[in-house]
Amino acid sequence: MKARRRVVTSRAAPAKRRPTVRRIKSAILPATRRVLPPAPVAPTQGGNGATQRQVSPPTAGRDGNRPATDQAVDLSVDLGRGLVLANPILVASGTFGYGVEYGDVVDVQRLGAICCKGTTLRPRVGNPTPRVTETPGGMLNSIGLQNPGVDAVIDKYASTWSRWRVPVIVNVAGESIADFTEVARRLDGVPGVAGIELNISCPNVGKGGIQFAIDAEAAGAVTAAVRRATELPLLVKLSPNVADVRPIARAIADAGADALTAINTLSGIAVATGRERPLLGNIYGGLSGPAIKPVALRIVYEVSQVVDIPVIAIGGVTELADVLDYLAVGAVAVQVGTAIFADPTLPARLVEELAAECRRRGLDRHAPLIGTALPKRAGPPSSKGVEYRP
Ligand SMILES: Cc1cc2nc3c(=O)[nH]c(=O)nc-3n(C[C@H](O)[C@H](O)[C@H](O)COP(=O)(O)O)c2cc1C
Repeated sequence: MKARRRVVTSRAAPAKRRPTVRRIKSAILPATRRVLPPAPVAPTQGGNGATQRQVSPPTAGRDGNRPATDQAVDLSVDLGRGLVLANPILVASGTFGYGVEYGDVVDVQRLGAICCKGTTLRPRVGNPTPRVTETPGGMLNSIGLQNPGVDAVIDKYASTWSRWRVPVIVNVAGESIADFTEVARRLDGVPGVAGIELNISCPNVGKGGIQFAIDAEAAGAVTAAVRRATELPLLVKLSPNVADVRPIARAIADAGADALTAINTLSGIAVATGRERPLLGNIYGGLSGPAIKPVALRIVYEVSQVVDIPVIAIGGVTELADVLDYLAVGAVAVQVGTAIFADPTLPARLVEELAAECRRRGLDRHAPLIGTALPKRAGPPSSKGVEYRP
């Protein structure tokens, strides 16, 4: 995939070191509005998964300068295997339930897709409490995949989903390849199930409990097995808890995934008030929210350079500027997660804001916004070191 090279010029270091302490945004509240960058000259490439329709180059409004405010904007995203999203704003697994819970608050049909709560072969009661805690710029959760099991999920929600215009992607978790494939097999062909997103940040019991997501071979093997078990569009979710995500992303793409989603939560802990033990009942939790956005941006940036399948970004989206940043580093779409707890109307509003932003820039689709910050040739990964370059 081609993109413009960004030349970074080095500047002389300031004479005195200044402290770099910054105020961190309140945990999961939408960030304060940032000034949007000026409309760039749009490159002609369409990005890996955005619909590749050839359109005329970006045009200004009919008067030549004013943005074309009445222009229809094509926000569609083709994820392959017939799954075409109406727009690139999805809701992330575990933060929007099964979609039905939000029917009174939000017009769920306006979303690009809903990734439902993690679903396993058998019901799970989840982890001991406490399961969540707020952190600077985010939250830690250790829900433990509490869910009623795939059969109950199908019985309870699939018929409702089948009447919806918005596609529902079922997030699938398991402890073995057999678990994952059996859940996929049961979901295959069920009306209302538009696709599967594999949560591979789960222990692989057959391999000493090492997560599938941190081992390229295991990640490829589980993807290939699920690929054989279902015709459904297959998304696979990357973990940030690895030194170099690129071989893992490549293994998953080579194994037949239709798209990658990135990222799942970062592993972390909190300490209980009396400091006599860790706070969460499960000790470890997953960090999410604005705090993880730079990590997610870096991973989307690195992965977009090495795979040809679409990449969907996740991590700390709270406003339109976040969406635009992720598109710039190669994502074709984004998922909104933790920010939904503060404002469930945010994802639907982002759809309108993205369309308005395209109009402001004189674009009739969002595809030209994708990949503008990527280098022309794949650069060195962050695992080669950031501070100490050879
Ligand atoms: C409470 C909670 C539950 C989650 N449950 C799941 C899950 O079941 N499956 C999954 O793949 N990711 C799950 N996630 C991770 C999110 O889908 C998302 O990848 C992560 O929170 C980063 O996005 P955010 O910063 O916008 O929240 C969960 C996140 C939270 C906060």
